[in-house]
Amino acid sequence: MQVKAEVRLAQLGVLGSGKGSNFVAIARACEEGRIPARVAVVISDVADAGILEHARQFGIPALYLPPGPYRSKLDEAAERSYVEALQRAGVEWVVLAGFMRVLKGTFLRAYEGRIVNIHPSLLPSFPGLDAWRQAWEYGVKVTGCTVHFVDAGIDSGPIIGQQVVPVLEDDTPETLLQRIHEAEHELYPRCLAALVRGELVVQGRRVLWRKPQLENRVAT
Ligand code: GRF
Repeated sequence: MQVKAEVRLAQLGVLGSGKGSNFVAIARACEEGRIPARVAVVISDVADAGILEHARQFGIPALYLPPGPYRSKLDEAAERSYVEALQRAGVEWVVLAGFMRVLKGTFLRAYEGRIVNIHPSLLPSFPGLDAWRQAWEYGVKVTGCTVHFVDAGIDSGPIIGQQVVPVLEDDTPETLLQRIHEAEHELYPRCLAALVRGELVVQGRRVLWRKPQLENRVAT
C-alpha cells in the first residue's frame, strides 16, 4: 500500500474587478500543486466581472458583493461584508488580483499582514492606475510587475517579488501590457507558493526569501 503524505492546503480568497487572468493562473497553479493552497472563494465588486465567470468554471464559489457608493474604496458596511464572507469561507490569505478599490481600516485590521497584491510596474515606479501606460509614456526601457503586501497606502507595502519586462522599440502600451500579463502569471503563483509555505520573512520593508528561488527574470 502506498501512503501519501497529506499536505495542508492554505485557504486563499481572491478579490478582483476585471477579467481574472491572474486568478486563472493562480487557480491552475493550485490545481497542479505548484501552490499548496486552494481558492476557497472569489469575490468581486463588479456583478458581471470575468473573474466570477472563471471562478464558476473552476467550481469555486463566486460572489458579487456590492461595494457601496464610493468609486475607489469600499464603504464601511461593504468592508464588513467582504471580511465576513472571507471569514465564513475560512480564508487565511487575501489575494488581490485586479481589485480596483483601496482597502481601509476594517479590512486591513481583519487580515493584517495577510493581504497581497500584484501591480503592473516595477514599484515604487508608477503606482496607481494604468501603470503600464505610465511606464510606456515615460519612456522607460524596462518595466515589469510587482507582488507586494498590502498596507494602508497605494501600492506601497513591502515588496515580495518582481519580474522585469523590457520595453521594445515597437511596443504600443497594449503590446507591452500583454507581456506584463505573461510575467504576472508566472510571478504571482511563485510568490504565493513561497508565502503559504512560510518561506518569506518580513524585516521592516524588506521581504527575505528563505529559499533563493526568485531572481529578477527578463521575460522573452
Ligand atoms: C493586472 O495587470 C494586475 O497587475 C492589476 O490588474 C490587472 C488584473 O488583470 N492589478 P486580470 O483581471 O488578472 O486579468
